Amino acid sequence: MRALVMTAPSRGCDRTQVQDVPEPRPGAGEVTIDVTHAGINFLDVMARRGDEGYARAWPHVPGLEVAGTVREVGDDVTGLTVGQRVAAFSPGGGLAEVALARAALTVAVPDRVPSRIAAAAPVMLASALLLLTDAARFRQGESVLVHSASGGVGSALAQLVPALGGGLRIGTVGRPEKVLSARNSGYDVAIARGGDLAGEVRAAADGGVDVVLDPLGTSMLDVDLAVTAPGGRIVLFGNADGGRETPPLPLERLIGGNIAISGFSISRLSATVPGRAAGALRQVLDLIATGRLDIAVTEVDSLDRVPEVHQLLAEGRGNGKYVARTGAERTGAERTGAERTGAERTGAERS
Ligand SMILES: NC(=O)c1ccc[n+]([C@@H]2O[C@H](COP(=O)([O-])OP(=O)(O)OC[C@H]3O[C@@H](n4cnc5c(N)ncnc54)[C@H](OP(=O)(O)O)[C@@H]3O)[C@@H](O)[C@H]2O)c1
Repeated sequence: MRALVMTAPSRGCDRTQVQDVPEPRPGAGEVTIDVTHAGINFLDVMARRGDEGYARAWPHVPGLEVAGTVREVGDDVTGLTVGQRVAAFSPGGGLAEVALARAALTVAVPDRVPSRIAAAAPVMLASALLLLTDAARFRQGESVLVHSASGGVGSALAQLVPALGGGLRIGTVGRPEKVLSARNSGYDVAIARGGDLAGEVRAAADGGVDVVLDPLGTSMLDVDLAVTAPGGRIVLFGNADGGRETPPLPLERLIGGNIAISGFSISRLSATVPGRAAGALRQVLDLIATGRLDIAVTEVDSLDRVPEVHQLLAEGRGNGKYVARTGAERTGAERTGAERTGAERTGAERS
């Protein structure tokens, strides 16, 4: 089968290529999936550049989220059948024609959800949901500040806040030219980092923000603490620039400000508490199927084009969410009317 293979750590595309590799076979509690679409993530880029903990071994086959149909089920698997449409968290190896997944992290896809959208649900959408509901304990009407607002997770958060009954959405971006795309994702206020960020956030959210979602390591922690309202929660969920320095715990500011800091990792959560990750995946697929969440993705038409998308993300030039088509999906014409989405029925190409 064809799979995207990273042969050694690199900051460029030079060591990533599509290769023929042996197909995985499911062990007990596992399934294999004929992948039609696979999500492309910044986490793949972190693996590519050799950040600790992102690639278990080299060569490395990236890819953490897939959609397709069940190809084979291993022993002890119940509730999943060959040919069933599914989305799954993959432990790596998702950017391939066939992927392995734990049955506990594999979920049926409702008929109304196209596979290209389902492929973005495990890492991008389930992370965004869990960041808000579990990690940040978001409550209806609260204000939210999101860094890297124009990326995949950032754009998903902008859609989810109103779906959860939310309030003001403020997004920050690394370049002025991304302000518009953050606004288009749904942010009420979008700010390019660089000036007096704390002042600008405070001007937008009188009294500070209730929730801060920060994938930028600790480089923005001072700003986060300065803009968080009493009782607010800051969630650190990434280390985009790969920095390794951990500043001392700002105890006085946490206690004095009544502020909580927590961390979030979808990879660790799915490995250790798969039921929570799978539950969030079911929930976001249901939100899409019932029209309460409307997500757009950019689809690239083959695995061969994934390295250029990785490079776009590595250079901070990505815009929204990217998904790769890795295999044949039944077309709208091949599916029944009930299976087709509203967008397909009206002919509108939404993503
Ligand atoms: N903990 C988790 O479970 C989890 C799950 C999914 C994603 N994440 C993290 O969330 C972030 C967004 O993920 P995504 O999939 O939405 O990625 P994405 O669409 O590629 O967005 C990544 C963004 O990171 C920012 N960035 C900051 N420093 C960067 C650097 N040195 N190189 C390149 N980009 C840099 C850029 O936005 P700006 O310049 O606008 O800031 C870039 O657009 C990533 O840091 C990712 O690792 C964490």
